[in-house]
Amino acid sequence: MGRIPGARSQADEVAGENPDDRRPAQYLSRRRSDQAWLCLFRYRKEEREAVEMRYFITGTAGFIGFHLARRLLQDGHEVVGFDGMTHYYNIKLKHMRNAALAQFPAFRSVTAMLEDRKALEEAVESATPDVMVHLAAQAGVRYSLENPKAYLTSNLEGSWNILEIAKDVGVNHLMLASTSSIYGANPTVPFRETDRADEPLTFYAATKKSMELMAHSYAHLHKIPTTAFRFFTVYGPWGRPDMALFKFVKNMLEDQPIEIYGEGQMSRDFTYIDDLVEAVVRLSSVAPSEANRVADQRVETLSHQAPFRVVNIGGGQPENLMTFVETVEKTLGQPAKRKMLPMQKGDVPRTFASPDLLVALTGYRPETTLNVGVKAFVDWYLEARGELEP
Ligand SMILES: NC(=O)c1ccc[n+]([C@@H]2O[C@H](COP(=O)([O-])OP(=O)(O)OC[C@H]3O[C@@H](n4cnc5c(N)ncnc54)[C@H](O)[C@@H]3O)[C@@H](O)[C@H]2O)c1
Repeated sequence: MGRIPGARSQADEVAGENPDDRRPAQYLSRRRSDQAWLCLFRYRKEEREAVEMRYFITGTAGFIGFHLARRLLQDGHEVVGFDGMTHYYNIKLKHMRNAALAQFPAFRSVTAMLEDRKALEEAVESATPDVMVHLAAQAGVRYSLENPKAYLTSNLEGSWNILEIAKDVGVNHLMLASTSSIYGANPTVPFRETDRADEPLTFYAATKKSMELMAHSYAHLHKIPTTAFRFFTVYGPWGRPDMALFKFVKNMLEDQPIEIYGEGQMSRDFTYIDDLVEAVVRLSSVAPSEANRVADQRVETLSHQAPFRVVNIGGGQPENLMTFVETVEKTLGQPAKRKMLPMQKGDVPRTFASPDLLVALTGYRPETTLNVGVKAFVDWYLEARGELEP
C-alpha cells in the first residue's frame, strides 16, 4: 500500500495543523478534534485528486465484498480486505475469490474475525481508508434459527467494533450492509425506507436493524457520515451456495430435486450483483449531509440528528418464485424435479424495493433481467464447479 511520494502521514498532517495541541500525533490521529477532522478532510480531498481512493472493506472473501473489491480495483482504487473466512459455506469458494483479488497489486487482505478488536484496529489503521464498507456478517435467514449466537457476535459485536474504529480513525464515509429482511411482513408495497420496519421476523433481521440503530447513534455522536444499505436478494456469478440460485442449479445438474418453499407463492425482488455494485460505487461519493438532502420527504431518510441515511438497493421488480424456477429451467434446458414445501419459519412472503431514494441520490436503478443474470450465474458455475468439489 504505497503512500504518495512526499506526502506526510495523516498523523503528521493533523498535528501540523494544530500547533496549540501538544498531544502526540499518533494520539491525534485516533481521537481527532473537530478542527483536526476538518484538516484531515481537506488533506484527503487534495490527495484524492492526485491518487485513487483507499477503501477498507470487510467480507471481501464473501460474495458481495468480492465483487465490490474487484470493481474498485479495476477502477484503480486501493483496497484492504478483511475477512474471517468463516465456515458457514464451502470455504473453497472463499479461497477462490481471495485468489482472484490477489491478482491485483493494489489489493491486500487480512484474515481475522471482526470480534478480534486489536486485529481489526491494526488492519484499519494500516489501511488509512477514505471509505469503509462493512459487509462481513453472519448472513442467511434460515441459519439464524439454528445458530443465533453467530449473528449476535458477528453482526452486533463485530459491527460495534467497526463503529468504534471508524470513530477513532475518522473516515469520510462509512457504509454498512443491512437487509430487506428488516421489513419483515411489511403490508405495503413497495417497501420504502421510510416505512416503520421494526417488526423483524428473524433474529438475523433483528441484528441488522440493531446495527442500523447503533450506527445512527455513532453518526450523531461522532459525526461519522454513514449510509446503511438494505440489499434485496442479491444473485450472480460467484454467488452464495446457501442461496436458492446456487442450490437450484447444482441440484438440477446433479439430477436431484429442488426444494420450493411457500408452495412457490413467495416473490422476491432479485438484484443482480453488478447492478448492486454499481449502486454502491455511486453511493460511496454521496456521503450523507444536508447538502445532498433529497427534496421529496416521502423518500428521504437523511436523519435530522445525524449524517445518517438508509437506502434500499433493489430494482423494484419482484418476481414470483415459480418464474424464477422457470428461468433456471429454461437456461439449463431441462425441467427441475420440483419438491413443493410450505413456508419455513421466519420466511417473508414477498420483498419489493422502492428504488426511489437510490434513483434520487444516484440517478441509477438496477435493471438487469433475470434471464441475463441467471445465464451469467450458470456460465460461471459450469466453469467453477470442478474447483468447488471437495
Ligand atoms: N446476498 C444477499 O442477498 C444479501 C441480502 C441482504 C443483505 N446481505 C448482507 O450483505 C453482506 C454481504 O453478504 P454476502 O452475500 O456477500 O455474504 P457472504 O457470507 O458471502 O459474505 C460474508 C463474509 O463475511 C465473513 N464473515 C462472517 N462473519 C465474520 C466475522 N465475524 N468476522 C470476519 N468475517 C466474517 C465471511 O467469511 C464471508 O466471507 C452481509 O452483511 C449480508 O448480511 C446480503
